[in-house]
Amino acid sequence: MGRRLQGLDLCSLLFLGLVLNSLVLFCNGGKTSRYVRRLEATVDMPLDSDVFCVPSGYNAPQQVHITQGDVEGKAVIVSWVTQEAKGSNTVLYWKENSSKKLKAHGKSTTYKFYNYTSGHIHHCTIRNLEYDSKYYYVVGVGQTERKFWFFTPPQVGPDVPYTFGLIGDLGQSFDSNITLTHYENNPIKGQTVLFVGDLSYADQYPNHDNNRWDSWGRFVERSTAYQPWIWTMGNHELDFAPKIGETKPFKPFKHRYRTPYRSSGSTEPFWYSIKRGPAYIIVLASYSAYGKYTPQYTWLEEEFPKVNRTETPWLIVLMHSPWYNSYDYHYMEGETMRVMYEPWFVKNKVDVVFAGHVHAYERSERVSNIAYNVVNGICSPVKDQSAPVYITIGDGGNLEGLATKMTEPQPKYSAYREASFGHAIFSIRNRTHAYYGWHRNQDGYAVKGDTMWFYNRFWRPTDESTSSDS
Ligand SMILES: [Fe+2]
Repeated sequence: MGRRLQGLDLCSLLFLGLVLNSLVLFCNGGKTSRYVRRLEATVDMPLDSDVFCVPSGYNAPQQVHITQGDVEGKAVIVSWVTQEAKGSNTVLYWKENSSKKLKAHGKSTTYKFYNYTSGHIHHCTIRNLEYDSKYYYVVGVGQTERKFWFFTPPQVGPDVPYTFGLIGDLGQSFDSNITLTHYENNPIKGQTVLFVGDLSYADQYPNHDNNRWDSWGRFVERSTAYQPWIWTMGNHELDFAPKIGETKPFKPFKHRYRTPYRSSGSTEPFWYSIKRGPAYIIVLASYSAYGKYTPQYTWLEEEFPKVNRTETPWLIVLMHSPWYNSYDYHYMEGETMRVMYEPWFVKNKVDVVFAGHVHAYERSERVSNIAYNVVNGICSPVKDQSAPVYITIGDGGNLEGLATKMTEPQPKYSAYREASFGHAIFSIRNRTHAYYGWHRNQDGYAVKGDTMWFYNRFWRPTDESTSSDS
């Protein structure tokens, strides 16, 4: 009898456990992936790695990278570094199948950072390009010439398909190399990278060893020389080191990377906007002032009314520090900016916000939290079909390693989260639909760890989660 009772108790306990477990799952907002990844130390590649190779030849251009050079996508900024001498500032370029070679002339700069002196950093804007065309370009004119190519975007318009890659917090570890390789080999080809900040992690080295800015530039050249990377500033771009006399934030980044900020009326390179095909992309600066009356606030306030969803249906915002994040790391760091700007995001029906900073992956529900005022106490995120989806994609693989600790239980605003390195693809098909997929590094190139069909908030503002094809 006693044994039978014991057995019954065990059964009851098991049943109770199962019920409680399912209740917890039901109460949780979304899915925390059970994926089991390799948890090994994330180690930077040594400087003699092949990916850091200096190109051969006297004063050969290195660290070649391009980015959009105007608002509309008809200009490209070409940047490169020459180490031995200044060399030529000229970019030679021509449209495929055209015999007419054109020349543009840029400028070069150098900077010192503590005991480091940079090479000659060249920036040259080439303008009046034709849409939807392949261009070849040559740098190092007159010395060691190197040739690359890129494709211009289609003319800005509502129904031109366009595919963006998403990478964040990349660094230069062995895992970073896997992330970039997976992006390159993804069968859905990204045409432009939206980079959400934290590039080289040179600041993790003694005295912010700026040689690691150079090695990073050489590492990513295999992508950045051939397609534009749209830059967002992260905290690892600050390079603020008063103890060694370096008191000007963003010094290495500002010298090495350009953004087309003036074209969109911005007064600093850290916040700006571009149009690219069917997308209007607003880049915000988590580490520049954003309170009322600040230049960034004033600029953004005037920026939203400029967005014409009939011309560019897809409104995308990039920032470094996420507003909706349920990892222990950097929890609520984006809160003050959220409080300032979230009502504008909802009012203007932003489709998606991509952020980095947290070294893991997370996708939110469409939620907003804009009802609060000092007296009403309403401070919980609620489902809101006018709100963006927030995606944290800071899982590029830098040497700081993965963010594995999460707040429990998973908040309702969090739809999917997983602590794995990876990248994502945002593929705009037309004015109503975009296909989104996140790829973890451990899988094959075509495998998607998380997917979602986005419905455009202006043209089809219905709930994606309840539809049969989501
Ligand atoms: Fe960061």
